[in-house]
Amino acid sequence: MTQHRLPISQTLKSALLLGASLLAAPALKAETGAQTEAIYQQHCASCHGTDRLGGMGPALLPENLSRLRQAEAESVIAAGRPATQMPAFGDTLSQESVTALANFIYQPPEVTPVWGEQEILSSHLLPHPKGSLPDEPVFEADMMNLFLVVEIGDHHVTVLDGDTMEPIHRFASRYALHGGPKYSPDGRYVYFGSRDGWITKYDLYNLKVVAEVRAGINMRNIAVSADGNYVMAANYLPHTLVLFDATNLGLMDVIPVENGTGDSSRVSAVYAAPPRDSFIAALKDIPEAWEISVTDAKVNVRRMQIDTLLDDFFFDPGYEHVIGAARDGKRGYVINLDTGNTIAKLPLPGMPHLGSGITWEYKGRRVMATPHFRTGAVSIIDMDNWEVIKTLETQGPGFFMRSHENSPYAWVDVFFGPNKDKVHVIDKKTLEIVKTLQPAPGKVAAHVEFDRDGKKLLLSVWDKDGAVIVYDADTLEEEKRIPMNKPSGKYNVWNKINYEEGTSH
Ligand code: HEC
Repeated sequence: MTQHRLPISQTLKSALLLGASLLAAPALKAETGAQTEAIYQQHCASCHGTDRLGGMGPALLPENLSRLRQAEAESVIAAGRPATQMPAFGDTLSQESVTALANFIYQPPEVTPVWGEQEILSSHLLPHPKGSLPDEPVFEADMMNLFLVVEIGDHHVTVLDGDTMEPIHRFASRYALHGGPKYSPDGRYVYFGSRDGWITKYDLYNLKVVAEVRAGINMRNIAVSADGNYVMAANYLPHTLVLFDATNLGLMDVIPVENGTGDSSRVSAVYAAPPRDSFIAALKDIPEAWEISVTDAKVNVRRMQIDTLLDDFFFDPGYEHVIGAARDGKRGYVINLDTGNTIAKLPLPGMPHLGSGITWEYKGRRVMATPHFRTGAVSIIDMDNWEVIKTLETQGPGFFMRSHENSPYAWVDVFFGPNKDKVHVIDKKTLEIVKTLQPAPGKVAAHVEFDRDGKKLLLSVWDKDGAVIVYDADTLEEEKRIPMNKPSGKYNVWNKINYEEGTSH
């Protein structure tokens, strides 16, 4: 039921494209394939796993490598990754073998890898289970104003004091964190999800890992229930949602994601919906949204048929509607979460990044704003009548948008294109760009997060030789730069646990 269709469609495609003249090829291919597999087992399996599911090194499967181009993978294999355990094979292996290996890891394995109850249970690690660590913070700071900064350059996380803006601690994360860490409602614990399916529960009082478990092989994100009792993982591979007891990440349920006729689907993402006391998940391959609630440790799934496949989406503050982008990338659908009905369609210029949408009060009404992946524009939408009230032109497509209830400004980056080193500051009252900053010419400037009071903010210089820049949120003056290794997301405890309107959840 969680089988890949890729091999079949690929076979079909080659048959169609190449015709009968290459019918002899499979035998030849199989032979070189076997050779490549042998080279893999000899040189790579010790770190990446005999089944390519990962080990000390990351998983090497097509789903997991979707963000890495094959040519880049080839150069990683030949040259290694400096300052990591990934060795260079350029001297040991021929260029042909390197190319064949790169090819090999982008092919799905012959046997679809299984990651079910047993695999999840045996991956469970409990370095410091609940009750084994003191209930007082081991350092002094406003625990509600801490920031976590994810540094994707070398897979680390920095804990930053939001008052002094000084780093407190830095620790190694799992490979390639994905989808934003989630805090427990009291802010003491944080849960990280990784590309390869690992969930890590971390104790911010003691600066230690409490528990870890591998929920899947390729995971999109995780959500923590509003009461803090459960953690839900959304997987691409296998096609499952997985529920854990938040205490020590004990497995509660593996939910196969399929429709009534047995077609299965990847999960685009899962989020907690606090006013509904549930989780909402959207599916990538089946036009359905699921509402999942847990009562007496039992999972209840309500499946909603909807008009589109939801890849990236946003909720209104009351979690009555989900706003999703249609596949064509030109429209947004507003879907009622009780009926599954589309109540409005929004014209949007080019692949909105709704996951990064924010809301604020404008002339007495609530508006939401979203950047776009393909167009240099921010769309501002009236959430009462679902009309686009303004399309603000920017200097290029953006990735993240942020603000804070106490700030007069909303910030949007220009992540893609020649102006990727710029960031716009938008006046929330006039809906105009009032300032454009270029903090590090030539380097991507992206992702803002405010402190708990909305008085200061952090901006990433998204580079190996990067930094987090502290700005005064009112004067827009730079206060300091803290060097970091490709800092991506920053997560303020108070803003996240209070579902602050200017940040994502
Ligand atoms: C000694 C352990 C080790 C061995 C042996 C090893 N790797 Fe790696 N590999 C790693 C680690 C660790 C990383 C992650 C590096 C980082 O942090 O970016 C990695 C990363 C990679 C990546 C990049 C993955 C990504 O998601 O960006 C590829 C591709 C790769 N290895 C292929 C191979 C191949 C093919 C072989 C065998 C020829 C091999 N590796 C052997 C440890 C190893």
